[in-house]
Amino acid sequence: MSHEQDIQPGAERIRVFVTGVCDGSAAVCEALAREADLELVGVAEHPADAVGALAGGHLQVVLHATSAPTLPVDDLAVIREHTRAPIVILASGEASRLLDEALDSDVADVLLLPQLPENVFFAIRKATHAGRRAAGSAAAPQESRIVTVFSPKGGTGKTSIATNLAVALAKHEGKRTLLLDLDLQFGDATIMLGVEPEKTIYDLVVAPGELDPEKLAGYVTRHSSGLEVLPAPLRPEDAELVTEAKIGALLEVARASYDAIVVDTSSFFHGPMLATLDQTDRLLLVCGLDVPTIKNVRLSLQTLELLSFPLRKVRLVLNRANSKVGMKKGEVETALDQKVRFEVPSERAVPVAVNRGEPLVSADPGSEFAKAIREAAHAVLAEEHESSGRRRRLFSRA
Ligand SMILES: Nc1ncnc2c1ncn2[C@@H]1O[C@H](COP(=O)(O)OP(=O)(O)OP(=O)(O)O)[C@@H](O)[C@H]1O
Ligand SMILES: [Mg+2]
Repeated sequence: MSHEQDIQPGAERIRVFVTGVCDGSAAVCEALAREADLELVGVAEHPADAVGALAGGHLQVVLHATSAPTLPVDDLAVIREHTRAPIVILASGEASRLLDEALDSDVADVLLLPQLPENVFFAIRKATHAGRRAAGSAAAPQESRIVTVFSPKGGTGKTSIATNLAVALAKHEGKRTLLLDLDLQFGDATIMLGVEPEKTIYDLVVAPGELDPEKLAGYVTRHSSGLEVLPAPLRPEDAELVTEAKIGALLEVARASYDAIVVDTSSFFHGPMLATLDQTDRLLLVCGLDVPTIKNVRLSLQTLELLSFPLRKVRLVLNRANSKVGMKKGEVETALDQKVRFEVPSERAVPVAVNRGEPLVSADPGSEFAKAIREAAHAVLAEEHESSGRRRRLFSRA
């Protein structure tokens, strides 16, 4: 059984969901429903019945009630699959083993029922405070990296590189990684990753209330590598609501939750892209061995300079570097007056993997493409971080 109460937009109350059942848990739910500072988003006897609310309810705490003598690991796993909100266990009956097991788990607290409502509220508040600290400690915001993958020409390999790089950061480097699809009209990052977007960046920016790490967590789609993706809007016309200001705020918040944020882009310097450049630590500028792309990459470098984007943050990526097309890496470097930092080979397996929705870094880790991407992922993290304390906007815009 599951029910949801009316959600009051913008209310700054602690959002709580209750799963499971035990002696005394119904009384706790009644008390929570009466408490003005809390919002009981819903209750469900089985966590599996509440996956929608758990994943997208912007929950700040989940209470899980159990009468089992041991830690209900299966139920906790279901909850954890869908939310990172702190979990407080409500237990009834003999619970000494459960208490021991809870010490080694990521359960925030255990309350043996019956309890006075004040004690339950205090435990909830304590858990949200600890949760906020934990979210902030994933990476100190200034240590988190924003890696933007850009090319002024379509089809150069931005999305192939961004998706594989993000998977490599999540899976091989073990970093908490977010892939932000900023190809707002025609983004296809989720297709390349083979995941079905539950919600998109559009849903996030039109949702009421302040953006914070918990809210952001409710809008990402999870990939089996551990990567989290904030997909592009499903309809091109929804892109215009994803404004420059929204992207600026979003990246600030994302820095608090993720070690690395990879941004896939379209081929334009639009407002959201400028907001991204403001906060970009590494700009992977993707070039190919063809004259039109080189010409446009050259123009991009000039534009970046005009925008006062520090060119020391640019890393030139030569995609399909081994193609036999009558041009060599050295000629690209001379034309652009920039060294190629990463060479990514052309492989037939890349489009095959794209069509299967399986990134090649996972599908064939031994491939030359995967090795090149992993090297780039490693280098992006290893390079010294340039933090200038408080971030400032690079560009002044009307
Ligand atoms: N190194 C590579 N080897 C082989 N095929 C590649 C390689 N890089 C990209 N491709 C293929 O080229 C096509 C275009 O790549 P991709 O979609 O990544 O480019 P893009 O720059 O994101 O394009 P768009 O501008 O349309 O977003 C894809 O089908 C991909 O499989
Ligand atoms: Mg693309």
